[in-house]
Amino acid sequence: MAEEPIISVQDVVKEFDDKRVLDGINLDVQAGETMVIMGGSGSGKSTLLRIMIGSIPATEGAVWLFGKNVCELDESGLNGVRKKFGILFQSGALFNSMTVAQNVALPLQEHTDLASEIIEIQVKIKLELVGLREHADKFPSQISGGMKKRAGLARALSLDPRVLFYDEPSAGLDPVTSAEIDQLIIDLTKKLHVTSVVVTHEMDSAFAIADRMAMLDKGRMLRVGTRESFEALMNKDDASAAGMGVDDRLIRQFLRGDPVGPITERKESTNYAEDLLGGPVEEHREKTPSVVTTRSSAVR
Ligand SMILES: Nc1ncnc2c1ncn2[C@@H]1O[C@H](COP(=O)(O)OP(=O)(O)O)[C@@H](O)[C@H]1O
Ligand SMILES: [Mg+2]
Repeated sequence: MAEEPIISVQDVVKEFDDKRVLDGINLDVQAGETMVIMGGSGSGKSTLLRIMIGSIPATEGAVWLFGKNVCELDESGLNGVRKKFGILFQSGALFNSMTVAQNVALPLQEHTDLASEIIEIQVKIKLELVGLREHADKFPSQISGGMKKRAGLARALSLDPRVLFYDEPSAGLDPVTSAEIDQLIIDLTKKLHVTSVVVTHEMDSAFAIADRMAMLDKGRMLRVGTRESFEALMNKDDASAAGMGVDDRLIRQFLRGDPVGPITERKESTNYAEDLLGGPVEEHREKTPSVVTTRSSAVR
């Protein structure tokens, strides 16, 4: 791929106090693709996403977004960049005192000079895209979790972004609703030709929507590759997996949700160290990936 990436994360390090949460991350995202960033809870996915959108600074490194290094932009520069991407947060993050339509209209009122009739039309178009036009006048408390995500997505789309960022789009949803949201993400990507960056720890969603995938573990990027390459790794039989490096075996365990492998071995050895020292060792236990195989194990 000779084309310039639309997003380029270069040697990004993030430390909170003296705790290193991201350790030299590199990741390119090409225009039009859906990149899924996977990893267990606490692996650094949300932190990476927040650095990519310029909402928190990196300790070291650079993030190029639309040809600008967001790590060096001032607030007005960041505001210019922010108009070109949309974000869907974990919770949907709707304002409860506003209707669905008012929530979707808000970015248009804040960032454009459009007349209110035009905004109204724009809102209708966005709500139609996510299948919520009939529910425009409902308040967030009156709609289901899946509909809140759709409304959040309509709001993320309000300024016609070229890039959409999602943090755990299917978190907290039942399997069917979650699959519907996956399908919506796929449809929107096709219809609108947007570039999507999706953070998830749910493997079924990951494989459903990804063109390429990236695997984070404890702040390290273990692998970036096509969905097919991750599928091939997941489907390696035990005999050939035994000869792989520890990182690939760890990814394979994560993707498959196997009860035995490098992730669980690490957990056991941490517990042993804890045992010896008579107390918790840092926060290792919390950082151990929680393996979520979700619906895929039954389907595949
Ligand atoms: N604002 C913060 N201050 C201190 N530590 C943080 C902060 N945000 C995240 N962390 C830590 O960084 C690590 C990665 O967190 P996060 O990016 O939220 O992981 P994920 O989204 O993969 O679950 C965790 O150990 C978390 O406790
Ligand atoms: Mg997170």
